[in-house]
Amino acid sequence: MTLDQLHSNLEAFKAKKLELDMSRGKPSEAQLDLSNQLLNTVTAEDYKTNADIDTRNYGGLDGIPEAKELFKHFLEVSSIDEVVVGGNASLTIMHDIISRAITHGVPGSLLPWGKQTVKFLCPSPGYDRHFSICEHFGIEMITVSTNEDGPDMDEIERLVSEDESIKGIWMVPKYNNPTGLSCSDGIVDRLSKMYTAAKDFRIFWDNAYAVHHLSEEHDEVKNILDTCKAEGHENRPFIFGSTSKITFAGAGVAAVGGSVENMDWYRGHLFFSSIGPDKINQVRHTRFFKSIEAVHVHMKKHAELLKPRFEKTLAILDEELGGTGLATWTTPKGGYFISFNVVKGTAKRVVALASEAGVKLTSAGATFPYKKDPNDSNIRLAPSCPTLEEIDMAMHIVCLAVKIAAKEKEQSAIVL
Ligand SMILES: Cc1ncc(COP(=O)(O)O)c(C=O)c1O
Repeated sequence: MTLDQLHSNLEAFKAKKLELDMSRGKPSEAQLDLSNQLLNTVTAEDYKTNADIDTRNYGGLDGIPEAKELFKHFLEVSSIDEVVVGGNASLTIMHDIISRAITHGVPGSLLPWGKQTVKFLCPSPGYDRHFSICEHFGIEMITVSTNEDGPDMDEIERLVSEDESIKGIWMVPKYNNPTGLSCSDGIVDRLSKMYTAAKDFRIFWDNAYAVHHLSEEHDEVKNILDTCKAEGHENRPFIFGSTSKITFAGAGVAAVGGSVENMDWYRGHLFFSSIGPDKINQVRHTRFFKSIEAVHVHMKKHAELLKPRFEKTLAILDEELGGTGLATWTTPKGGYFISFNVVKGTAKRVVALASEAGVKLTSAGATFPYKKDPNDSNIRLAPSCPTLEEIDMAMHIVCLAVKIAAKEKEQSAIVL
């Protein structure tokens, strides 16, 4: 098809004045409905914990016992002393831990992070909010490339062994945002074992999609805390998780896990900012999920809603772009995203063309530190929220935009 023909197809879509959105990694309304009974688990007569703690009052700084028990399994740590259960967002806990590291340092720090240059390794494409936290605190980000089985470990080992200002790495180990891929055992082993020049190096292990499988075929990721302990680096990981994409994205429960020393450090800091989290919401959740097995059963219902959306997105990519050499994409077994790579130098143009035709995509570049994709190639696709009909329409437009942008690039190269 000529460029003119492709453009006239896009004009036809524009005339429809569509408003479609493939940018937001949030649960659909039907997914949220799956947890509505959660709201009935606490009543005016019945709001105490198993140990008769009054959830309405102050106290319980690191969570109610049954929430710590549930998150012990969720975060795969060995005891409830290795867990702190907080409010509704794991992102808040990540931000909080970094903020306290900046003002006071973490166990093993010679100085607060704020009194020295601090750098973080950022496997990319990655989660924009992780990068925003770094930018917000003036932490220098070093982009590390990602392979099918996780980040480039040769590069990571080299960097952390030479530079003591590298204090951390962001990792989304399972069903990564945006690649949807999971880390191999070898990556977990090397991250746990590697020598770091910084004595207070931390892995920010954001297991946001720990139980978010799309089918019976699950990715398994080796236990990070056990592996770090075996290597004598038990303070290395902070492990994060939440029920944001299990129950309610705006009213879930979040937690952090790690060594007792790390958790005692965090509990010590929390003392100054809280007299206790929302225990009513914690008891709601632990009544709704009496065990981790109940969480797994519940997640199958999410998968029933998510899987067809992923399948539809992938089917249109295959149908429109398969074999053209114009794009590559991941085929995740879980999580919320598909990572889509278009012809180098055209991602921004694809996002702009799609937007003109009424399809909102995550901004090109958002998946890289400082919002700069060196190849201008990566686009994050989020199929969870739109209906199947909307995905059908949106993805045809996206594919058309990819073809137009690629042809424009090819033609401008000829003119040059
Ligand atoms: C990797 C990752 N971590 C954390 C979050 C946010 O989690 P929470 O709602 O617990 O703050 C998201 C949401 O998209 C995410 O993709």
